[in-house]
Order: sequence, then structure tokens, then C-alpha cells
Amino acid sequence: MAPSTDSSATPAPALPVTPAGAHRAPPCTLVIFGAHGDLTKRLLVPALYNLVGSGLLDPDFRVIGVDRVDSTTAAWRDGLNAMMQSFTHDPNAEFHPASIDAAQWDWLAQRLEYVKADFSDVAAIRALGAGLPANAIFYLAIPSRFFATVVETLGAAGVVAQKDGAFRRVVIEKPFGSDLASAKELNRRVLSVLDESQVFRIDHFLGKETVQNILAMRFGNLIFEPLWRNEYVDHIEITAAETIGVEQRGAFYEPTGALRDMVPNHLFQLFAMVAMEPPNTFDAESVRNAKEQLFEAVTPIDPRDAVRGQYAAGTVEGKPMVGYRESPGVAPHSNTETYVALKLHVENWRWAGVPFYLRTGKGLGGRRTEVVVQFRKPPMLMFRGTETEDLPPNRIILNIQPAQGLTVELGAKKPGPEMDLTDVQARFRYEDVFTSSPNVGYETLLYDCLMGDETLFQRADNIEAAWKAVDPVLQAWAQDSTGPELYEAGTTGPKGADALLARDGRAWYPLDKA
Ligand code: BG6
Repeated sequence: MAPSTDSSATPAPALPVTPAGAHRAPPCTLVIFGAHGDLTKRLLVPALYNLVGSGLLDPDFRVIGVDRVDSTTAAWRDGLNAMMQSFTHDPNAEFHPASIDAAQWDWLAQRLEYVKADFSDVAAIRALGAGLPANAIFYLAIPSRFFATVVETLGAAGVVAQKDGAFRRVVIEKPFGSDLASAKELNRRVLSVLDESQVFRIDHFLGKETVQNILAMRFGNLIFEPLWRNEYVDHIEITAAETIGVEQRGAFYEPTGALRDMVPNHLFQLFAMVAMEPPNTFDAESVRNAKEQLFEAVTPIDPRDAVRGQYAAGTVEGKPMVGYRESPGVAPHSNTETYVALKLHVENWRWAGVPFYLRTGKGLGGRRTEVVVQFRKPPMLMFRGTETEDLPPNRIILNIQPAQGLTVELGAKKPGPEMDLTDVQARFRYEDVFTSSPNVGYETLLYDCLMGDETLFQRADNIEAAWKAVDPVLQAWAQDSTGPELYEAGTTGPKGADALLARDGRAWYPLDKA
């Protein structure tokens, strides 16, 4: 059961050169539990391949894929190779390169090894651990119900004890718990085996350049911060709208729903980036302290400030979509929400009185993830020909995806003799300025984990604080048999979501605005 070192006779291709100024990660073995899973194939292996290309991995880097499936190292490598090749023909894949670089792939492939083991078999994991070099990372790319057991198995097998300056780390995927109580219990079990500094709770939104860029925009420029507060901001919207439906993920999605799937994790990360106070430094503890301070200021959400919807059959981007209840693995009378809209209140000096509206849904008419910071209107009418009430408000839009960048909406004078104002947009787009390097969003996270940098990972208290905010809604919905409001796939979501803002005299930023 112990991993053998690679005895392949073929010499490994030379590693691409590490770029000047970049630090190559230390030697390490990455043990992936869930080697045959979707996450490993679609995202982790492409991310590792990209890291090879950027020259950031050590020649002694290794990957051991662990799963219960009968397989061999050769078969696992071949399967992954075929998968990587298939991505080149699949424009919908997260990783869609024109071709796979043979030397780059070989470098990685020669370092891949497969071990068949049951994740909860202490003896098997101990045997695996016996063959590991000093530094190792255990990546739990497995269903969340196994997280605690696997961490306990790692502890019982003695493979996560850190000796002689070497590190042993554990990466835990989402969902981390399914409500406040289960998240606390999971943290308790994980932290009874590991020190917090060994735990890397992942949220892939933090791997996105555009999400990290929110901090760069806010704290690397002086022009935003003075306005970033309740004196000037009317409200903030955070949207993650998806066109895709639940597809083949019914079994996962049914007990999860849009709120658990997206809000306390991804949307709260966007919220933190936008609303937290400037951290003292950019180190992990300062950033996570700043997030914690913000999350603690969130009033637990009043269920009356929450709307849930579920998509019915419709047409999305010209193609018919079956209703959620007709999807594989979904109960015919399911009450699981595929859409959620919420209003958050933040009781702190900066944000008191500024509502944060969050919405996310599947099967919608457009795909866009963005944060809209809408400013108050100018205090008085000054220009002839333009009523102040008619002037559109200023907005700063942080475009996360698919548009990547920043949009500023301003009032400008229409050319002509009249002083007549209209709204215009000023835009920064990544693709206009930067050459993008291939990225599936996990590269930075894997690299940071190798480097021991926890800035982009969730601390136990951050996770619990986010669950605490949404817990009243989860509890209220569990008791309420009315269920979600149906919306036709391909539209902007349930009417109730519009009513949530209309109640406050506001409207969502249009999903189809260019
Ligand atoms: C995942 C959710 O965590 O994030 C999915 O489980 C969702 O339901 C996905 O589609 C969205 O991520 P991205 O990067 O595609 O916006």
C-alpha cells in the first residue's frame, strides 16, 4: 500500500524556468483523496499542469491519487491524459487550452501515482504515510460527509504530525458544514486532530484574479476608500447569476440548495473583499481578522429579508432547459431553492444604514458575477435641463466574470448647447491590459498552500460567522412548507426578488446591461 517512488526509466523532462522574482514552492507530496472524482479531473490536475508551466513546482514534487476504485498508476495517468486532451475540444470546460504541451504534461504525469485505499482505513493510510517524504499536503477532494472521518483517520494513522520543520497540511473543500451547528462540529473534529495553521479551508472564489483584485483596487488606490462608506454609498449588490442548471449534480444539490451552495462561502467572500476594513498588513491573520470583524457586524438575516426561487422549464440562451424538478436526482416535488436573494445589514461605523443585497441563482437569463456599489445622488439640482432625480446614480461595478475588470458609471454632458447630462461608462477590462496566463482558479490556491500562505483560506471563525448570519433563514425555510417561488428558466429569477428591493424603493442592476 505504501507509495513506491517512481521507478520509470524515462528521465523527467526539464522543469520550465521559475520566473524571476517568483519563489519555487518547496518539495512536497500532494495526496489527493478522491483521485477519480470530478474536481480532481476538471480542476486540480489542470491547475497542477498550469503550475508546472509557470515553473513554480519543485523537481521533487509528487502527487499521490487515492481512491477506492480499482486502478493502477498507469491507468490513472492515461485516464487523466485522455481527459486533458479532451478539454482541448470542449469550449465549455473550465480548462480549454488549444493544445496540451507534451513536455509539460510528461513532467507532471511522471510524478503521478495511484494508490487504492479506503479513506477511513487507518492501516492503509498509515502505510501510505510511511512512504511519504517530509512535506505533505492531503487534499480532501471528496464529498463533505467524509471530511471529519478522513481527518480523524489521518490523525489516527499518525500522518499529520509535523516533525523536524516539515509541514503536513490538509485542504478541505466546500461545503464546510451545512449550517452553523454542523460547521462548528466539523471545526471541532478537525481541530481536535490538526492545528488551525495546518487547515486550508478552500473557497475557489478566492482563487479568482478578479476577486483578489478587489483588495488591490480598494487598498492600492486612494480614490475609492474615502467614498467607500455610508455617507456616499446608497447600497451594494452582490450577484452571482448562472445560466447553467443543476445538470447531473441533483444528488448533491437536493440537500444543499442555492443558499448553502453559494452564500456563506462564495458570496460572503465577495462581501468581505468589498466591505472589510483595511487589514493592518496583507498577512493571513490580519486579513482574516478584518474579515472576522466584518462578519461579526452582520445582523443575522431576518427570514423576511430572504427570497427563494426554483427554476421551471424555460429557454436559456436559445436552448430549452428542463425544470429543476425534472432533472436527474431531483425529487418531483422538491422544495430545494435554485435561487436566493437576501438583504444584509452591517452594524458598524462604516456601513450602518447601507443595505447589502445578495442574489444568486441557476437557470437564469445571463451569466455574470459582479459587485455593484451604487452611490447616493448629488444633493441638489444644479444643471438646467436635467432634473436631479433623473440623473442616474454613480456606480462602481467590480466585474468578476465573465467580464473581468471594473466599470464606473458617471454622468457626463451631452455634446450641444444645453447643459444636459447623461450616463456613460468608463471601463477597465483585463484582456485590454494583461496577457492572461492559463488559469482555472486553483493555481494560486494550490501554490499558496504549498507556500503555507493562508491569506486566501478560511479560518474556523470566519466560516462559523458566515453560517451564523444565514442560519435564521435556513431554519425558517426548513419549517415553511410553502416552498420556493417558481421562475421560468432563462429569466431574471423570481418576482419576489424584485419585490425585496422595490420595498426599499430600489431595483436590481439589470442582468443584461452591457
Ligand atoms: C460551486 C458551486 O462551488 O461554485 C456550483 O457548487 C457553482 O453550484 C460554482 O456553479 C460557481 O463557480 P464559478 O467559478 O463557476 O462561478
